[in-house]
Amino acid sequence: MARFLIKTFGCQFNELYSATIADALTRGGHRPSESLGEASLVIINTCAVREKAEEKAFSFLGEAAKLVGATRVVFMGCTATLDKERAVRIAGHGLNVVEGTADVGHVLAVVGTVVPLGELDCTAPQSLFPTADIELVRGCESCCTYCIVPRARGPEVVVEVGEVLHRAERAIGSGFAELLFLGQNINRYRSSLGGLIEVMCSVNELEGNFWFWFLSSHPANFTPDEVRRLMELRHIEHRLHLPLQSGSDRILERMNRRHTVADYRRLAEPIRENADWTLTTDIIVGFPGETDDDFARTVDAVRGFRFDGVFLAKYSDRPGTPSSRMEDKVPPAIIDERHSFLLNIVRDLSEQSNQVLAGRSLDVLVLSAHAGGNAFGRSIDGRNVWFSCSDQVPGIGTFVSVAIDHGSREGLYGKRDN
Ligand code: 5AD
Ligand code: SF4
Repeated sequence: MARFLIKTFGCQFNELYSATIADALTRGGHRPSESLGEASLVIINTCAVREKAEEKAFSFLGEAAKLVGATRVVFMGCTATLDKERAVRIAGHGLNVVEGTADVGHVLAVVGTVVPLGELDCTAPQSLFPTADIELVRGCESCCTYCIVPRARGPEVVVEVGEVLHRAERAIGSGFAELLFLGQNINRYRSSLGGLIEVMCSVNELEGNFWFWFLSSHPANFTPDEVRRLMELRHIEHRLHLPLQSGSDRILERMNRRHTVADYRRLAEPIRENADWTLTTDIIVGFPGETDDDFARTVDAVRGFRFDGVFLAKYSDRPGTPSSRMEDKVPPAIIDERHSFLLNIVRDLSEQSNQVLAGRSLDVLVLSAHAGGNAFGRSIDGRNVWFSCSDQVPGIGTFVSVAIDHGSREGLYGKRDN
């Protein structure tokens, strides 16, 4: 029996693959470990989107190789695919490097050479319970100029619709309460049944008590009519994550986003007209060539769209991307300044968005609960909710109603009222 430690960087895909590996290891009789000191198998699942995450992964790799030994370390994911040489330089020969990100079966085969594994089936990983992550599209062909994903993850591969529905049905049947469908640009999903909307309509028809949502959308492959159709579905969560990246059309063009701020506004409109829905986004500050005026437009857009949440990133130069070859890089000090300015605005917006819910009741999916009656969950519109329960402690994966007392930047606080 091995004690394993999985360190995961990056996106929801990596979370899913790590959870799948954790499940296979658990079924093989191995047990998770909290610390490197105790572990006899270490898996590092890497992300190449920003330099910072890469540096953290490499430094963790160095530590793991020293404490556990390179032959018992598996280095996988986007950085492993792009920079195997540096990994081997740091950890030494004998390191298990898994290149390629598309196939978790391949990773399991490598892990299986280090320790014996249990059977793999198409059940959603138990370690993500009560959420079942289900892939629709792997890889990316959207070619935003700043992004390393098309290089790291390769061309799109779609999962056949029958397989998607089978996985969804199976997850609901085995008690999962939430389905999360994944694609780097999920709006490009195509199947014999149609695109994303048609598949989501079919999921909505499945029997059972469940919620679902999806990540990530791309404004250039989405229409306002599609947004409206999705909003009518009974089981869908009331939230849309729609990356804007910049509020300047000039920068959007340099990013090769293939849409304007006005296009984005048309998509956001149905969401903003409905107070029960939240809108979240990704913004990059300091893209090459971003002037004070471009940045001011981003600030205006963030304020104008009243985003409920923003993942704010400083532009990170990724070798091999088209933007890394652009000449007019923004100095780091200016990026820092713009980032902290916008961060304050984003935090205020989140706080306001949460504060207005005081006095309302919301449906909440229970994610953790303690004997003392304190519980944590996520509301149907995607907010963190900390709440107390006077009598019975609710089960993880059940739905409860919570009367909201107050809100902060981080989320909502209240009391169970059903
Ligand atoms: N620099 C900064 N942020 C980036 N993202 C992708 N590539 C970069 C980069 N080079 C951000 C985008 C994307 C999110 C997943 O990561 O905002 O939507
Ligand atoms: Fe990071 Fe992108 Fe790879 Fe996900 S696909 S791990 S976000 S580089």
